[in-house]
Amino acid sequence: MRNIPLKEQSIVLIGFMGVGKTTIGQTVARKIYRDFIDIDEEIERRFQMTPKEIFAKHGEATFRQYEKDIISELCHKRLKVISLGGGAFLQKEVQDVCFATSTVLFLDLSWENWKERISLLIDSRPVLQGKNMEEIRKLFDDRQPIYERHHSRVITDNQDIEEVADYIVDSLKLAWELYSY
Ligand code: S3P
Repeated sequence: MRNIPLKEQSIVLIGFMGVGKTTIGQTVARKIYRDFIDIDEEIERRFQMTPKEIFAKHGEATFRQYEKDIISELCHKRLKVISLGGGAFLQKEVQDVCFATSTVLFLDLSWENWKERISLLIDSRPVLQGKNMEEIRKLFDDRQPIYERHHSRVITDNQDIEEVADYIVDSLKLAWELYSY
């Protein structure tokens, strides 16, 4: 696989569903003049079905296959900001291809703050459906170790979108300055 220079690598945002990967990704992309790609929206555009509909009609395994194929294709592109669905990093192949091609940022949000957002997410997120609070907490906790594979962690608690995006942009600029040769 070709080595993509750090400054040209796509920025991949990972983290649990509803932490703000899409809105933060759009804001970062705007600030650094890059195109933004949301993998769930890309799946929806290509298959003309929402993730929820794909889960219901074809099952989770099919959704994960689409997700893996599209991420593997798109993260080879340079100079993008890409937000992944919260379950995408469960797949080792997805982790590996993102690490080989891109700069991976983990958007970290505590359970205490995340649980305040549940009502906004429950209808559209198939993996939350039919689960009680205890089961959702378990899913949240079980997922955290997969996000530990990242290049940089971004704490999002008590920060608004602009603050998080500015922090990301400043960190990227510093890394590009320090490590470009
Ligand atoms: C999922 C998260 C969703 C979407 C799908 C499955 C998950 O994306 O990909 O519903 O397994 O965590 P968001 O993280 O954007 O909510």
